[in-house]
Amino acid sequence: MNPAIPYTYPGIGKDVARLKELLALGLCTSGWLAPPKPALLNLACGRADETGVLLSSVAPLAEELFYLGIDLRPAEIAEAKARWLPLAPPGWQLDFRAGDASRTDRMKQLPPFDLVFIRHQNYWHDPATWLVLFKNALGSLKPGGVLLITSYFDREHELAMACLAQCGALKLADLHHPNARPLPDAPKKAVDRRLAVFRAT
Ligand SMILES: C[S@@+](CC[C@H](N)C(=O)[O-])C[C@H]1O[C@@H](n2cnc3c(N)ncnc32)[C@H](O)[C@@H]1O
Repeated sequence: MNPAIPYTYPGIGKDVARLKELLALGLCTSGWLAPPKPALLNLACGRADETGVLLSSVAPLAEELFYLGIDLRPAEIAEAKARWLPLAPPGWQLDFRAGDASRTDRMKQLPPFDLVFIRHQNYWHDPATWLVLFKNALGSLKPGGVLLITSYFDREHELAMACLAQCGALKLADLHHPNARPLPDAPKKAVDRRLAVFRAT
């Protein structure tokens, strides 16, 4: 975390610490290991509060990496840039872009990725867009690369997993966080309630 820029909401520090536990379990269960110079993509990343725990979970020892976050909302992207870009050690190229994460196929000069992460996927908001987003996310992976999603709701998680299966993705892990923080704005909603790991086939 960048101590100069506290998280926007109280509780986020603990949320991302819990996400780190879930990521460790998901990566271990799936058997996936990051290569020495990983390329990582965070789609629909919002403020990308999880950037620190994602990078320290996935590639703690990487001397070089590329990490790109994309979200539709320019204000969230600006906040992510302000929080995380000053913390990048030499050799780590971090970038955040405002844009349509469902159209990565049209973005020039994106490298293939080792891991694509989507926290709190929003499948049921717009299933047609998320179908395209998932297809392109899977298509952006290197051979052996993985796609990770987390979800607020069990039902939305099941729908997103069914969509990914329809896209030909192979499920490597599906975990339920036992201590996910419930959110008061909707029944059965919790922060990073579920995590699933997929590989493209
Ligand atoms: C539920 S929020 C999750 C944000 C962030 N990943 C998190 O967990 O805090 C869903 C996010 O998806 C973004 N989003 C939805 N459709 C998108 C699209 N087509 N391209 C980029 N971002 C999109 C929204 O702007 C929003 O930030």
